[in-house]
Amino acid sequence: MLKDLESVMFDEKAIAAKVSELGQQITKDYAGKDVLVVGILKGAAVFFTDLIRQINLPINIDFIVASSYGDGTETSGKVDIKKDLEKDIAGRHVILVEDIIDSGITMNSLMAILRERKPASVKLCALLSKPSRRQIDVPIDYCGFEVPDEFLVGYGLDYAEKYRNLPVIGVLKREIYT
Ligand code: IMP
Ligand code: MG
Repeated sequence: MLKDLESVMFDEKAIAAKVSELGQQITKDYAGKDVLVVGILKGAAVFFTDLIRQINLPINIDFIVASSYGDGTETSGKVDIKKDLEKDIAGRHVILVEDIIDSGITMNSLMAILRERKPASVKLCALLSKPSRRQIDVPIDYCGFEVPDEFLVGYGLDYAEKYRNLPVIGVLKREIYT
């Protein structure tokens, strides 16, 4: 699979160092609070499992599967929850964990849906952010790396459901998807 990469942007060491930093920050900020850490499947799965092991607090975890309505090429801005959270989040401190924020459209809608449920707070932790692609401003409370507008795969990120299990994050060769 590595041969399909144009270049490696973040190797295992760089990712681990950043994940540890994010986990330590969250540990500091949420001491003494009732925290629910929510992974957004499938993209955030790999990041999520590493991140929660760097949070030194008695957290709970859950998962949500969300996808944008529409024909696949055009994001409508509305989000369809395919698998919802198990429990009510009213009064709880929620941290949403996402792989990458691109246009921001999906996360903006998801945040709006979750805020209606009256949690004590909702914050966003994203490993990657592509600021140059943003259409809706989505504040990222915990951001791993800002990246240029390149198509990235690995560490949970896919192209046509492949490459999620690559341990590094890299730029996919253009010939693979064009
Ligand atoms: P958006 O912020 O609503 O545009 O959607 C973000 C989603 O697009 C992410 O959760 C990913 O699933 C996907 N995505 C965006 N950029 C990339 C990329 O470079 N590689 C793989 N998936 C991406
Ligand atoms: Mg995703």
